[in-house]
Amino acid sequence: MNRGPFIFLGMFAILAVSWTVVLYKPTQQTGRLAAVYDEAQGGVLPRGTNGAAEQGKALYQELGCIACHTQQVRVASGFDLERGWGSRQSVARDYIDQTPALVGNTRLGPDLTNVGLRRPDADWHLAHFYNPQIASKGSNMPAFPYLFETREIVGEPSARALKLPGTFAPKDGFEVVPTRKAEALAAYMTSLKVDYDLAEAPKSKDAMAEELAVALESAK
Ligand code: HEC
Repeated sequence: MNRGPFIFLGMFAILAVSWTVVLYKPTQQTGRLAAVYDEAQGGVLPRGTNGAAEQGKALYQELGCIACHTQQVRVASGFDLERGWGSRQSVARDYIDQTPALVGNTRLGPDLTNVGLRRPDADWHLAHFYNPQIASKGSNMPAFPYLFETREIVGEPSARALKLPGTFAPKDGFEVVPTRKAEALAAYMTSLKVDYDLAEAPKSKDAMAEELAVALESAK
């Protein structure tokens, strides 16, 4: 018996099913997501990255930060909300302006979706890039001293020089100054914040508390 047509049909079915599940369905669900405009939350959402933060994002890719950090608050599996990594779950629309989206899949370090809310101080990030041991002793995160210039102080010390404690400080008469790259990376870190709600996203704890307060108030 000639089995050719069956083999052909079988292969065709396998290809058709994989194409539907892997390409067609996801594209249909998320391919046409657009930004939304919400005046109450300050305009276009998600807010997008620009300027120095955009350059910092390129560096984040170049330096391989994604090997240890995710940018995705997960709720179904894990304790991301309890860890203070966000107030709501990340949804597809949060990423529409990012090419590529730096979601990541390994968490040797904390999730960075909202690091700009947790740590809004760019100087903290600069010192942390220079040497993570300053802020967290025993940290596994590598130091990035090549993003800084250690130079002799000539005349006035630079206003941008890092304030480094004790043994981390350079020799007398020297200062550690962040390069443009370090500044851009710090700007990217402080720009990372999901401080808005989206209709399709499960409600944030804050939003729920606010609704409850309003409901209680009107029930009085
Ligand atoms: C080898 C893994 C590793 C790599 C690579 C790495 N990190 Fe980290 N990172 C960590 C760990 C572990 C911590 C937690 C301890 C600490 O604060 O240093 C951390 C903490 C942080 C924090 C503080 C987060 C918080 O909630 O306090 C920031 C910001 C950060 N990393 C940014 C970066 C950036 C930017 C890069 C790339 C230039 C990078 N990391 C590369 C492991 C890594």
